[in-house]
Amino acid sequence: MREVTLVDIFKHHITRKYLFRSGVHHAVTVAEHALALAKEEQVNLDLATKAALLHDIGHYEWYVDGEWDYDEYRKNDIHAIKGAERAHKLLIRLGEDRTVAKEVSVAILLHTDSYLPFTVDEKTTPLQKVVKRADEMDELPKGLHHYKEMDFGAAIKRLHVLDLEIDAYNDVSQREMV
Ligand SMILES: [Fe+2]
Repeated sequence: MREVTLVDIFKHHITRKYLFRSGVHHAVTVAEHALALAKEEQVNLDLATKAALLHDIGHYEWYVDGEWDYDEYRKNDIHAIKGAERAHKLLIRLGEDRTVAKEVSVAILLHTDSYLPFTVDEKTTPLQKVVKRADEMDELPKGLHHYKEMDFGAAIKRLHVLDLEIDAYNDVSQREMV
């Protein structure tokens, strides 16, 4: 049984504060893509969906006159670094297993390498690749995916569906191992 669910994470006020900033619609959609990709790639569903849900939790606000300033963001962004640390702290506070918290945090750190002077693609693990691909599947030009809206109730419902799928999938895999 998992220590912490996606719904537990989303209900926390810290998650909501930062995800409402970077886009709840994007976070939930990327978690859904991550679930499908993780099944295909035989990657841990719990880790993939948690990292996907929280991958943009490190975003700062770069709004100028009410609009996201994409050029400024591209130039100075370190949201993956900030997000890795923020997600780790949040998961530990929620009582998450430390190994899970670390894996999720590192997958967030490496979901983009746009802040680095080199690429990390060839060195990343299947989990880290799943989170990166899931993010790219929902990306729109000029960061417009951050603007798509989803209310709190709709997000909880969709995340609850993912939680049920993860639990059902894990139950079957555990039974197959016996
Ligand atoms: Fe993203």
